[in-house]
Amino acid sequence: MKLKSTIIILIVAGIVACSKQNQSSEAADMYHPSELSQMMRDMVSWSKETKRLLSKGEIIDDVPQSFYDLANQKATRDEHKEAAFQGMAPEYLEALKGIDRKDSQQYYYDASIQACKTCHSVYCGGPLSVIDQL
Ligand code: HEC
Repeated sequence: MKLKSTIIILIVAGIVACSKQNQSSEAADMYHPSELSQMMRDMVSWSKETKRLLSKGEIIDDVPQSFYDLANQKATRDEHKEAAFQGMAPEYLEALKGIDRKDSQQYYYDASIQACKTCHSVYCGGPLSVIDQL
């Protein structure tokens, strides 16, 4: 019970932090992306390219190893230090490992995009429109 309410508080805090960003510091963030923002942008481009290659039946053998360090990237509002963030990052990393192992890559690619959605339904919802195209 205690754990549950802690998680709920964290989720609410995340949503509040995100809506604040949209009002005030969005322009600043665009020019000075945090380490985490920069990695997210790289994840978007890599996922786009991976989707394209998979649709052509190609094998993916270039999972950027830096993505495994996702949970240590500094975020604009220190989201990376939050338990909710740390709790959801492994879902993405597990999916990446599947692609790296060259298991069913389409399956693990889909799982990786599902992991983006899981985390972004809690944190900034803005990128969901980008994620939906991946
Ligand atoms: C474990 C949580 C988590 C996962 C998984 C995750 N994100 Fe994010 N994402 C965040 C947080 C938190 C931010 C805000 C970063 C900041 O402002 O420093 C963010 C920011 C972004 C941004 C905005 C970057 C910018 O320009 O500022 C995009 C786009 C994005 N994510 C796309 C994705 C995609 C695509 C995936 C999956 C491949 C993904 N995210 C997976 C938590 C996550």
